[in-house]
Amino acid sequence: MNPWLKVPYEDYERHMSDEDVCQLQTLNLIFKTHVKNLKPKSVLVLGCTGGNGFEHINDEITEIVVGVDINKDYLDRCRKLYSNKNYILDLRCMDISTEDILIQNIDFISCALLLEYVDNQALLSKIKKVMDKSSKLNIVI
Ligand SMILES: C[S@@+](CC[C@H](N)C(=O)[O-])C[C@H]1O[C@@H](n2cnc3c(N)ncnc32)[C@H](O)[C@@H]1O
Repeated sequence: MNPWLKVPYEDYERHMSDEDVCQLQTLNLIFKTHVKNLKPKSVLVLGCTGGNGFEHINDEITEIVVGVDINKDYLDRCRKLYSNKNYILDLRCMDISTEDILIQNIDFISCALLLEYVDNQALLSKIKKVMDKSSKLNIVI
């Protein structure tokens, strides 16, 4: 079983946002900076957890947000928080190691703290397939 399926969202959030860790806040700021600058029409977030940073997506500009995560509970939380937005919220519960991302021509792709947990070369190849020449990719390791 993938270890991420055993981590309750509350435990994850408590650890990541602890002031000695400060990763949730840092990732949020990075994501915010990119969506504010790029103003993407389409966004793909790999390992999206509960939608950290989605509050910065301008739903008057962005038309579709695709979030991918292996943990359904995380996606349920994300859906609860953001399903009232004007963009299409397409949340996909899948193991990115074994399944393909069946979507193309995404303006902005974010992959923050996910490459550590998968075959990173294989994931980068999958990411390349969803990009076109003008796509922007945010990678945080
Ligand atoms: C450290 S968190 C990512 C942090 C998040 N990107 C952010 O900006 O706050 C890693 C996430 O990747 C997900 N994940 C780990 N392995 C995965 C896999 N094989 N397929 C899909 N999601 C995976 C976990 O469930 C978890 O939500």
